[in-house]
Amino acid sequence: MSKVTVVGAGNVGATCANVLAINEVADQVVLLDVKNGFSEGKALDITQTATLLDFDTTVTGCTNDYAQTAGSDVVVITSGIPRKPGMTREELIGVNAGIVKKVTENILKYSPNAILVIVSNPMDTMTYLTLKTAGLPKNKVIGMGGALDSSRFKCYLSKALNAPANEIEGLVIGGHGDTTMIPLTRFATYKGRPVTDLLDKAVLDKVVADTMVGGATLTGLLGTSAWYAPGAAAAYLVESIMRDQKKIIPCCVSLEGEYGQNDICIGVPVIVGRNGVEQIVDYKLNDVEMAFFEKSVAAVRATNNVLKETNII
Ligand code: 2OP
Repeated sequence: MSKVTVVGAGNVGATCANVLAINEVADQVVLLDVKNGFSEGKALDITQTATLLDFDTTVTGCTNDYAQTAGSDVVVITSGIPRKPGMTREELIGVNAGIVKKVTENILKYSPNAILVIVSNPMDTMTYLTLKTAGLPKNKVIGMGGALDSSRFKCYLSKALNAPANEIEGLVIGGHGDTTMIPLTRFATYKGRPVTDLLDKAVLDKVVADTMVGGATLTGLLGTSAWYAPGAAAAYLVESIMRDQKKIIPCCVSLEGEYGQNDICIGVPVIVGRNGVEQIVDYKLNDVEMAFFEKSVAAVRATNNVLKETNII
């Protein structure tokens, strides 16, 4: 019996559980939340769509009862507070680091073999925190950011090209921050044709800028963080793991020499399969792209250092 747990039944966690159920990615999906009755309610609501949407996945909720998450193959961690308009993801570190650390400890008591997918912000630093404190091998800790940012990049490219998003390829690497993500325009294509041949520079620059503030734009519109795309991006990663799809997905993983970096978790293209990180793929960045990547690494490292300065790791 395959099992996925989603910790945090807020908007992102519940959306992730919903997508996992609709796509029957696992036999069982467990939603866990600290708020009394909340995850049970979300799970029951999702369950009541089973005959409408024709899925057999069992969805259950539990209030802080980690025993019910036992034996999970994959655990998605969305716990913590979301950002408000005007806030950066990095400002959430103080509150969310303590929550993510505690959640991970509890999860691993009952699912020591689980692969962890980290969604909580600041996502790169929460992934690093989990890698440093959970005692898991590096293939089992994956941050979701690049999957989401790449989806937003393809969305804005599709609007600029007036073409279906599913005909477009595109990757965003680097940190999951408004100034740290790097949409790789040189590798983006519409049915195999480079978008750099199809869009003029000003349009492409706007696509890149819109992608980078994709989350902040939604926070401004909604008054809180987005959830449909973040939840679906986490579920997309889980599906590639559970079905051993070995998709290349930009996501936040531990680097040991790849892209010239060590002791950091940051977004790079990864083959994602049943072992989690199957392989980090080297896209041979040019000098300009590498300079952006190094700048992004420096910014993520600065946020990671807060964990050390505040004795969290
Ligand atoms: C976003 O970019 C929540 O970080 C997430 O929308």
